[in-house]
Amino acid sequence: MTLTATQIQITPTKAPLGAVVTGIDASVAAQPEAILQLKQAWRDYHVLIFKNQQLTDDQLLAFANYFGDILQQPAYIRKRETEPYLPPLVLTLANAAAEESSVNLAPNYRELLPHIDHDWLPAPSSGSFLYGVELPENGPDTYWVNLIQAYEELDDATKEQIAGLQVRHFSSFSKLYKDEYSGPIYAAGRPAEPGERLATHPLVRTHPDTGKKVLFLNAAGEVDIVDYDPVEGAKLIERLREHIKQPHYVYQHDWSKGDLLYWDNQATAHYRPEFDANATRILKRVSIRGSRPF
Ligand SMILES: [Fe+2]
Repeated sequence: MTLTATQIQITPTKAPLGAVVTGIDASVAAQPEAILQLKQAWRDYHVLIFKNQQLTDDQLLAFANYFGDILQQPAYIRKRETEPYLPPLVLTLANAAAEESSVNLAPNYRELLPHIDHDWLPAPSSGSFLYGVELPENGPDTYWVNLIQAYEELDDATKEQIAGLQVRHFSSFSKLYKDEYSGPIYAAGRPAEPGERLATHPLVRTHPDTGKKVLFLNAAGEVDIVDYDPVEGAKLIERLREHIKQPHYVYQHDWSKGDLLYWDNQATAHYRPEFDANATRILKRVSIRGSRPF
């Protein structure tokens, strides 16, 4: 069965980003008009929310492929291991209470701070899909931050101050989790450690499709500003991180089993609070290859 574009309904949320899409079954081939409508809605609303989906890994990959090549994350050495680990194209994100064999990424129930997926790659993912397989009754919700609006609402002096600045982003996975890491969050010119990845991006990036300016900054992990006074740089990053955490930039998603979200990593950051370590929470993630930020 295929669907025609006329059956699609796109309803923006009341938040500054996000739209609910109905009339799409992501497990089957879609009409060209439908895909074009989804691409436009994704540019307009930054997070698309598909309800009641039922997808195998292959179907998830096939649907994601409409929007670009699937990102293969590079191999890396995981904590307490010696052999490099090559992440699969469909990552299972699960906490320790979920079945051990399904865990592909560091299981964690602790607060996950606002971050942009793959900002530590020279060409970060353009977007990510997250599919809810098993969710606890009482959350946690996931929150997406509109980084275009966050840029627009900076005062003119700050916009001038940050124009042209380059930021180094480190792949310090453990530093994404609050309470797990208490070391510095400003790298202050330090080199990458063995096995650690590092990419340099403009602090204000231009969205490759819409040309809009984006405050391209995590509120987690270690960063620093290239050729900038370390004390002033740390202060500036801290101030900008507080800025993007403001609740009026946020769409808050209350998960149901079968939800599929597709968001723009070139325009948003995301986070979630700590949750019950004994609850089982399983999601699948696929990311789309992106281009070098400019
Ligand atoms: Fe993420």
